[in-house]
Amino acid sequence: MNSKSKGKVCVTGAGGFVASWLIKRLLLSGYQVIGTVRDPGDSKKVGHLWMLEGATERLELVRADLLEEGSFDEAVSGCDGVFHTASPVLAIPKSSSSSSNIKSEILEPAIEGTLNVLRSCKRNLPRLRRVVLTSSSSTVRVREMTSLTPTVDEAVLLDESSWSSEELCERLGIWYALSKTLAEKAAWEFCNRNGIDLVTVTPSFVIGPNLPAVLSPTAADVAALLRGEKEKFEWHGRMGYVHIDDVAVAHILLYEKEEAKGRYICSSTVVDIQDLASILSQRFPFLPIPIPTSFKKHARPVYDFDTSKLKGLGMRRLRSIEEMFDDCVGSLIMQGHLSPTPIIQPPSSPSHTSLV
Ligand SMILES: NC(=O)c1ccc[n+]([C@@H]2O[C@H](COP(=O)([O-])OP(=O)(O)OC[C@H]3O[C@@H](n4cnc5c(N)ncnc54)[C@H](OP(=O)(O)O)[C@@H]3O)[C@@H](O)[C@H]2O)c1
Repeated sequence: MNSKSKGKVCVTGAGGFVASWLIKRLLLSGYQVIGTVRDPGDSKKVGHLWMLEGATERLELVRADLLEEGSFDEAVSGCDGVFHTASPVLAIPKSSSSSSNIKSEILEPAIEGTLNVLRSCKRNLPRLRRVVLTSSSSTVRVREMTSLTPTVDEAVLLDESSWSSEELCERLGIWYALSKTLAEKAAWEFCNRNGIDLVTVTPSFVIGPNLPAVLSPTAADVAALLRGEKEKFEWHGRMGYVHIDDVAVAHILLYEKEEAKGRYICSSTVVDIQDLASILSQRFPFLPIPIPTSFKKHARPVYDFDTSKLKGLGMRRLRSIEEMFDDCVGSLIMQGHLSPTPIIQPPSSPSHTSLV
């Protein structure tokens, strides 16, 4: 461990899936970390953070809520950098899908919450060096179909210049993508107007070990797939995947590299759900993963991500699907969220008997 402090940084939404791993990496790199959470006394949500190496010496948790004006002032004050990860990761509102709940539970915390954090950042200028915003590949990939039956050969290569269609997100009710798209655009507008150095990272679906005791929404979706449920992933269809440790390392790279500028796609591999199911069922035959042909094919654009911008900044090799799911499955089993079903072996006949 690096014992010399590399400076003080704030991470919003510290107890979350992505933020927890980012804090683990920041502490290992020698940073002093101020994490914001809605309830620092909720041991189920924050207990795992205190187990991280370096936490007792260099981690502080501060209460802050995206929807309370000025709530982040204390946490951001005196920080050299801010990693803003807090945002609702919800496909639909928890209460009911009325338009007022979509606004109050998904859109407002994402958009107004981001502006709230950035207003605190503005009050911390000129001390504050940079803000790294955790955006999402859903701000890049939600686009109209260019062909009714696209093939993989026709895949559109999406780079950082691509923005999801707000109109399409609204028409299809993809509220999460709409919230992230509007939040990132609002952040760019605010930071450009107020002289804040902003860099954004747009990870695809994040896979890897889960540090919090409670499963995050995306980790819960993955656990459901591995338990044999196909509903969520059938809807996801084609999707990019990235290892959680690569996402954390990318955040820190974007903070540390002076020359980082603009948006950065962070994604390892894009695959159709049928291909993902096939890879996973071969790799984990002891899990009841649905068979690839059982997934309904939705008409969706076929795309890939151009990740050359992040690689050009010096990002290390992004881990493969196999590596990210090995780590994810291992952690889900260890935490008791997944139990391997015993493999039924056919009765052995003399010709199959092992010599040892
Ligand atoms: N997981 C992925 O596959 C993925 C992919 C791309 C981008 N991202 C982005 O990564 C970030 C973290 O996502 P995650 O997967 O780690 O989800 P997560 O575990 O649900 O974390 C979300 C965090 O946001 C906080 N939050 C939500 N509403 C809040 C509010 N009103 N005030 C304060 N904090 C609030 C939550 O706090 P509580 O714990 O108090 O609820 C939680 O800590 C999000 O910005 C997400 O869009 C995730």
